[in-house]
Amino acid sequence: MKLIVINGPNLNLLGEREPEIYGSESLNQINEWIQNHESCKNLEFEFFQSNSEGEIIDFLHSKRGKVDYCILNAGALTHYSYALRDAIVGAQIPTVEVHLSNIHKRENFRKTSVIKNVCIGQFFGEGKQSYINGIKHILEIKE
Ligand code: DQA
Repeated sequence: MKLIVINGPNLNLLGEREPEIYGSESLNQINEWIQNHESCKNLEFEFFQSNSEGEIIDFLHSKRGKVDYCILNAGALTHYSYALRDAIVGAQIPTVEVHLSNIHKRENFRKTSVIKNVCIGQFFGEGKQSYINGIKHILEIKE
């Protein structure tokens, strides 16, 4: 099974950016941890990060028909990007929305996800484990 893991704006700064909220590990460390996680044996991963909405949309389009699932931490785009929402639908790649932090216990604007309704699940608030929870959800659906 092929999965893409996409991280959006500012997630390249993980480890340095608000560590009290997002933890002290870098994105590379988290990606490596995901890849080597026992739940992820036999899964083929491609990791992508961009600070640009357009690049994320282009990447999703380029993977249409080529991968089975997408794990997406869209960062702040989550809260307002209808273009990203449409791209998830257009690319026809079943996508799980994930967040490190608990978006429902922070500022009000973070409580809204405009991508939630076009995703097959939403996992948040457990740090890097949120990504694994998303992957486990995919594996359960697959059974
Ligand atoms: C985030 C939550 C978003 O609100 C924020 O803009 C991020 C990270 C998370 O992983 O908790 O950049 O998606």
